[in-house]
Amino acid sequence: MDNSKIKRYTVTAALPYTNGPVHIGHLAGVYLPADTYVRYLRSNKRDVKFICGSDENGVPITLKAKKEGVSPQEVVDKYHKIIGDSFKEFGVSFDIYHRTSSQMHHQTASDFFEHLYDKGVFTEEVTEQYYDEKAQTFLADRYITGTCPKCGNENAYGDQCENCGSTLNATDLINPKSTLSGEPPVRKETKNWFLPLDKYEEQLRTYIESHKEWRPNVYGQCQSWLNAGLQPRAMTRDLDWGVKVPVKDAEGKVLYVWFDAPIGYISATKELFDYARLDVWNPKAEEYYINQNTLSKGNWEDYWKDEQTKLVHFIGKDNIVFHCIIFPAMLMAHGGYILADNVPANEFLNLEGQKISTSKNWAVWLNEYLEEFKGKQDVLRYVLTSTAPETKDNDFTWKDFQARNNNELVAVLGNFINRVVVLTHKYFDGKVPMLMEIRPEDQQVIDELAAYPEKISASIENYRFREALSEVMNVARLGNKYLADTEPWKVIKTDEDRVRTILNISLQIAASIEILIEPFLPFTADKLMKMLNYGGHLWEDAGKMHLLHRGHQLNQAELLFEKIEDEVVQAQIDKLNKSKEANSLANAVTASAKENIQFEDFNAVDIRVATIVAAEKVEKTKKLLKLTLDTGLDQRTVVSGIAEYFKPEDIIGQQVSLVVNLAPREIKGIVSQGMILMSENADGKLDFVAPREKHHNGSVVR
Ligand code: 2FM
Ligand code: ZN
Repeated sequence: MDNSKIKRYTVTAALPYTNGPVHIGHLAGVYLPADTYVRYLRSNKRDVKFICGSDENGVPITLKAKKEGVSPQEVVDKYHKIIGDSFKEFGVSFDIYHRTSSQMHHQTASDFFEHLYDKGVFTEEVTEQYYDEKAQTFLADRYITGTCPKCGNENAYGDQCENCGSTLNATDLINPKSTLSGEPPVRKETKNWFLPLDKYEEQLRTYIESHKEWRPNVYGQCQSWLNAGLQPRAMTRDLDWGVKVPVKDAEGKVLYVWFDAPIGYISATKELFDYARLDVWNPKAEEYYINQNTLSKGNWEDYWKDEQTKLVHFIGKDNIVFHCIIFPAMLMAHGGYILADNVPANEFLNLEGQKISTSKNWAVWLNEYLEEFKGKQDVLRYVLTSTAPETKDNDFTWKDFQARNNNELVAVLGNFINRVVVLTHKYFDGKVPMLMEIRPEDQQVIDELAAYPEKISASIENYRFREALSEVMNVARLGNKYLADTEPWKVIKTDEDRVRTILNISLQIAASIEILIEPFLPFTADKLMKMLNYGGHLWEDAGKMHLLHRGHQLNQAELLFEKIEDEVVQAQIDKLNKSKEANSLANAVTASAKENIQFEDFNAVDIRVATIVAAEKVEKTKKLLKLTLDTGLDQRTVVSGIAEYFKPEDIIGQQVSLVVNLAPREIKGIVSQGMILMSENADGKLDFVAPREKHHNGSVVR
């Protein structure tokens, strides 16, 4: 969007599900880049509203409630507070952190649906869905588990197999089971309202293709959805938790969570302006974390319906289709709304080389970090922005966290600021000295400094936050180099006036850093502001000389960062390893909990000794090997999910136990005839179950 046409900004950050606290993956992927962007806009005096809130509807909440044995309301109340408090303490500067269980949201989402219904946008369709007769309820895909038809994983969910990553329909699962009662579900007809996405395909294509500047991952995903052809999608669900469907004959149905959640951005904006209009404080301010410093009068519609508003959605890559296809289609169907100008979705952050997993507690939780690293918000902000997964998945490690703190924050930024302020106190009683003669080497530094703000702006406006932060650090590097080259601590003995110039210039660099670092490290900027007795965070001032006038009194130096010792990060690594152990134990226990079967059931399984005679990787998969086995009965092909543990060339000649009478299945286009028995140890590693000494192929295992 042409900058000169922009009057105001609406910046949204994905509403987190309130079924657990937020972790570093969420922060790096969504909330930090969004906060940095908004702080930068505010520093440029732009009119911006930063919108977020808790996503309190949908199956993830009801699942959590079941697991904890409490009501969904209790779950959302608990996590709304934990998440809201920790965002606030972490300095994520939302204008409002709303909730989708609020009256305002229910009303807004319900009205939106009704508007589409009245316009005749939806189609009504009766489809067969799984129903749990014992629990007397329809089952969302997540409530059904069964065997993945693609890889044979017995614990696949109805919507996805976490083993092979395939997207599934619950009806694809082999031996489906309801997670509510443990019983096989039955198919039952039910009516739902569908949004005919296919009708908006051309309009969506025009929209997406007018945004070739979007990140390639976002643009590419949109293209592949469009190229595959869009299908109508149900916007209602049979569930008892969420926004009731506001039409006749919709008993027991709620809006699909992905229909109501993005409308949550709109309801939050409405709530914010309702609050601002009142002029008196009311308890909603606390419940919705309304930012009292950025309140302004106005109209929510300006932020959602005016062509001169730039709308930006910050999300993680798993949310792309919802924000770039489904939500825009909803807005198009409704009419009158603007569409997002950009959707800078990030890739994923891994932790110590493994995918972050909430259920396996493989995560660094923000609320725990804030407890254990008091006052160190900016260290985590710095590390997560420096390693942000902007173009590819990235890895967070505690060693890297320590190294970046010690070698960059302490050694580069903290060191520069400390030296300048301490020297000014030492030589000039903490008063900014006068700028005397400027030499060419000074002018060079002044010119370099002046060029930074524009460079950093360009990176931020193009959503390249890592690059922007590394340029801010280069300003501190410039300062350090200047001090090292000019050596004021030596020159002071012979030429006090020269030192005046050097420290004046260094202090101007420090003041610029205060402005430039604020969007990234607001706590550090505040400390710096206090130390320099200067601030205001106005971007237009950055890079200029004379920010601090001659005679201006500085406050005492205070250390901005402190070294993080080995023990501290080791304790965090140990903590992670403990959750890994606890997890493996839990898995081992679950594995032993299968129900008894009869001997005949066991006897029906024909297990034979076989030998692997050939092995190769299955293309475009990480886990699968295609094996040729000599079973003594025949030679056959079996696809097995063991590629992460064994190289094809290492297992030729390996004897295995093979279920030979399992019905053949097609996996990635290969017909797999049988299943190899593997033992899985506590940390998930697989090994073959085989005779200790060589047996003839075809020997019976019983
Ligand atoms: O993926 C998630 O965590 C969703 N709760 C994000 C919702 S974003 C929006 F649409 F509200
Ligand atoms: Zn699978």
